Amino acid sequence: MVSYNSAKEDIKRTADIVELIGQYVQIRKAGRNYVGLCPFHAEKTPSFTVNPERQTFHCFGCKKGGDIFSFWMEYHNATFPEAVKDLAEKYHVMITERFSESAEQKKASHRKLLYNINEIATDYYGSTLKDPDKGIQARAYLKKRTVSNEIISEFRLGYAPAEWDGLTRTLRKKGIPLDMAVQVGLVIPRKNGGFYDRFRSRIIFPIFDLRQHVVGFGGRVLDNSLPKYLNTPETPLFHKGELFYGLHVSFKAIREKGRAVIVEGYMDCLALKNHGFQEVVATLGTALTDKHVRKLKGYAKEVFIVFDSDEAGKKAALKSLPVFSNEGLSAKAVVLPDGQDPDSFVNENGLKGFLELLDHASPMFDFYLEQKLTHRDSDEAKIGVLKESLPILSEIHEFSLRSLYVRRLSERIGIKEDMVWLELKSFEKKSSGKTNGANLKERITGSMVERRFDDLHILNLLIHYPQRVCRLMDCNWKIILCDPAVLEIVETFFQQYHNKERFLPEDLLDSLESDAARKELGEALLENSHYSDEEVEQALREIEGKVKQIQIAASIKKAREQGNIEELNQLFKLKAQNMKRE
Ligand code: UTP
Ligand code: MN
Repeated sequence: MVSYNSAKEDIKRTADIVELIGQYVQIRKAGRNYVGLCPFHAEKTPSFTVNPERQTFHCFGCKKGGDIFSFWMEYHNATFPEAVKDLAEKYHVMITERFSESAEQKKASHRKLLYNINEIATDYYGSTLKDPDKGIQARAYLKKRTVSNEIISEFRLGYAPAEWDGLTRTLRKKGIPLDMAVQVGLVIPRKNGGFYDRFRSRIIFPIFDLRQHVVGFGGRVLDNSLPKYLNTPETPLFHKGELFYGLHVSFKAIREKGRAVIVEGYMDCLALKNHGFQEVVATLGTALTDKHVRKLKGYAKEVFIVFDSDEAGKKAALKSLPVFSNEGLSAKAVVLPDGQDPDSFVNENGLKGFLELLDHASPMFDFYLEQKLTHRDSDEAKIGVLKESLPILSEIHEFSLRSLYVRRLSERIGIKEDMVWLELKSFEKKSSGKTNGANLKERITGSMVERRFDDLHILNLLIHYPQRVCRLMDCNWKIILCDPAVLEIVETFFQQYHNKERFLPEDLLDSLESDAARKELGEALLENSHYSDEEVEQALREIEGKVKQIQIAASIKKAREQGNIEELNQLFKLKAQNMKRE
């Protein structure tokens, strides 16, 4: 029931894509564009570009791209109406109501209701915790665990009372359809009809996304009963494998300090916050995924993982090593004294003790060797460690650090340093064919070669110098283009440009028939001009010259076939003249 078009335009006028994306991705200026590591696919060299002039982004790696709305939708997993609403709120733009509801809008209002149910539940648990009777035990428990009132209110902690239908009744009273509450995992249908609360007799930790919406919950028992923690199952709003507990408040500090500390538990995260340590997040009882790391690298340059000293903790650390190296984020491992977790450690040793631990953190690779090797390993086991280490080593770009690791590895496995270097070189040679190693420039020019220079140069001229390119209309320009997508773009341009006084190349996007052409133009729009103002004339002359050469070559072929010597002579003369002019 809302028209988004005018809001969309207002937002576009107000927002700046560089500033917006810069809040989620570390981007730096490179020429006219900004570049950074793509938040949408795994990469270690930047192929994600943001174009401030056109207010667009584009990734040369995964090909995702578009405007601020596309970015918001992709990054936050949001629908288009949600993106418009979020951004309208962010940039203080009014949305006017109208009558029509598209499928997209229906989906958005469905999700809005789901968020709303989580919001109601958060309030309900929060007020139960404050309730003089019902919350008394929970408050005592949190006090015992030294969780301050500030933390309780900042993280909106709550308590689910020992009732089967406390929340269910509250939702029903508010007219919420309970099957919707089932969808967010808060209530569970009974076999014989009716519903009951999932969370009972538990401290509640609401879990937020980066848009500050509650997307799920964790609940801890007050005693030793099991399971200790109960979490929201996977729902349309809740994806454990990409969420961090605490990131919604920590991201600012993480960006400022350039570092993030990852812990395993809700209580660990809160305990560190309680002691004034801000740049901390917790996983939600799952292994660290590439999606986790991708999100974090938009804020942090360095990550510390604090693991419990038990076997499970060490295993989790090892498993996360390749995740970090694949995403090009440097990680250090912090090992706690036996039997401690970050919560107990910081409560015993204070912030100072914790900071010292960080200072002594070892790079993940050292930690890896420590864990992988015992003192009585077989030769096979050592070779195995060598093989496993090669991809990790090849991802370390800093030479001094790499040398250090090679030395350390060689010492630990008893294989000469030279041999390790040899193995590493041959590994890198084998894998250099893959795109991984190529930097942005190589990749762009690499693909240019494949797609033919002429096509791309003409396209580039057309975008940056549309008036001047018009003169090509008079020559047989089609014969030098080989990409049908570019042909479509140039043809459409010549048709359209005649009828328009003012021409914006991005307007062409709507007139193109094929997806291929739209994609091609979309990419080309992001590129800077290949030519300066002065060089344009020369470039156009070259193109005209090439067209002529091709025409002459075709005529020569024909004259030769016909045995027309006189014409052949003339054509060769023409050819020579033309080449001189170029
Ligand atoms: P821990 O048992 O280490 O949690 O589990 P913790 O934070 O130290 O718990 P406290 O200090 O006893 O309160 C780490 C994380 O694993 C998940 C939770 O996300 C928890 O924070 N977990 C743990 C579960 O999902 N279910 C469980 O039964 C236990
Ligand atoms: Mn704990």
